[in-house]
Amino acid sequence: MAVEIERQLESRDVELSKVAVCETHGEDSPYFAGWKAYEENPYHPFSNPSGVIQMGLAENQVSFDLLEEYLEKNSGATGVSRFKVNALFQDYHGLKSFRQAMADFMGKIRGERVKFRPERIVLTAGATAANELLTFILADPGDALLVPTPYYPGFDRDLRWRTGVNIEPIHCHASNDFQVTPQAMEDAYNRAQSKNMKVRGVLITNPSNPLGATIQRHVLEQILEFAVAKNIHLVSDEIYSGSVFSSSDFVSIADVLESRNYREADRVHIVYSLSKDLGLPGFRVGTIYSYNDRVVTTARRMSSFTLISSQTQYLLASMLSDQGFTDNYIKINRQRLRKRYDMIMDGLEKAGIECLKGNAGLFCWMNLSPLLDENSREGELRLWDEFLHQVRLNVSPGSSCHCSDPGWFRVCFANMSEQTLEVALRRIHKFMDERRTSHVKRDW
Ligand SMILES: Cc1ncc(COP(=O)(O)O)c(C=O)c1O
Repeated sequence: MAVEIERQLESRDVELSKVAVCETHGEDSPYFAGWKAYEENPYHPFSNPSGVIQMGLAENQVSFDLLEEYLEKNSGATGVSRFKVNALFQDYHGLKSFRQAMADFMGKIRGERVKFRPERIVLTAGATAANELLTFILADPGDALLVPTPYYPGFDRDLRWRTGVNIEPIHCHASNDFQVTPQAMEDAYNRAQSKNMKVRGVLITNPSNPLGATIQRHVLEQILEFAVAKNIHLVSDEIYSGSVFSSSDFVSIADVLESRNYREADRVHIVYSLSKDLGLPGFRVGTIYSYNDRVVTTARRMSSFTLISSQTQYLLASMLSDQGFTDNYIKINRQRLRKRYDMIMDGLEKAGIECLKGNAGLFCWMNLSPLLDENSREGELRLWDEFLHQVRLNVSPGSSCHCSDPGWFRVCFANMSEQTLEVALRRIHKFMDERRTSHVKRDW
């Protein structure tokens, strides 16, 4: 899809704006190229059993049945009877009932340890819009945000393209399970300054995409201390917070603030969306939860560009405020994701592949570095190409997430059926067996 649009742009002679033609959209990465290969030859168990299996898309389809069943039983909630009210509603504050429901849901997935106030919720069309909107508010063109690597490839577009803001990576490494360290933050800060960029904030993803793991409390505290010491903002994208296998494993930046009596809270902003936890990326439902009043007011004004349709708000307000439904959904969804995670970890281990230990999300972080013909980005991309065209699996190479250590790949397991996952694991197993027997030059 993205590539098609790209071709159209190239074919036009009439000039476009600098933003339109600049390269910071990030869509020329292998992350998107793999999607194209999948779209050209998609796997189907009967009609195309040798097709490409899409394991590069962080989509949650494991609990669709629960959502469908709820919506069928509660078809009155679709808002058809409220047609006129919904059709005319365009207040950028959003429906009060929906903001309340989102605030309660965000508290619930954090085990009710912290309370979220609906007045601080700003509604946006997904986390994509929330992250861009926050970047517009916190930084000026040419400024920098520090982002720990490996990070979600979409950030290259969301944080940079239209805002003109730069990302300065905080390099994290396999040697300490990719944890953010004070030294790595300091190095990134100094690097940005040496390029004459003003550092305006640090943006973390917790639980991390692509690591599929939560950030430990003491690391979060260090990141907040760093933000305080440098007088910069801290954005925590917590889009996978409801997909942590056990809520007690997750510490939100909101928990950290609560335990410090909200000291320095006005530099902290949380991003959330229903795209992952409820598996509804097409509904485009996101939020910014800021502890800073000026940010809330400005973000609300700016959200005019990226509102959620009133029909969607109405539908989801009634679903999210049904406590019986949300309790059950969160519990079952967690159990199913955990089961999938165990299944893929077990399969990869049997194939002789090591992964980072995860506890959240829709993917695992797989280490294929022993298979590289050269310890470099190029070596990693050659292996990725082999995976895509021979094994016919689209996984995301670590370099597309700006990972500093070559050979790591993100593998999604929740966007397919268990049967398809089994096929994918069989293909990986076969590939590894063949490698073991044919690659005499390697002794792994
Ligand atoms: C960390 C992170 N932030 C934001 C997004 C975008 O989410 P949304 O669909 O809500 O725009 C994603 C999607 O993969 C993500 O992984």
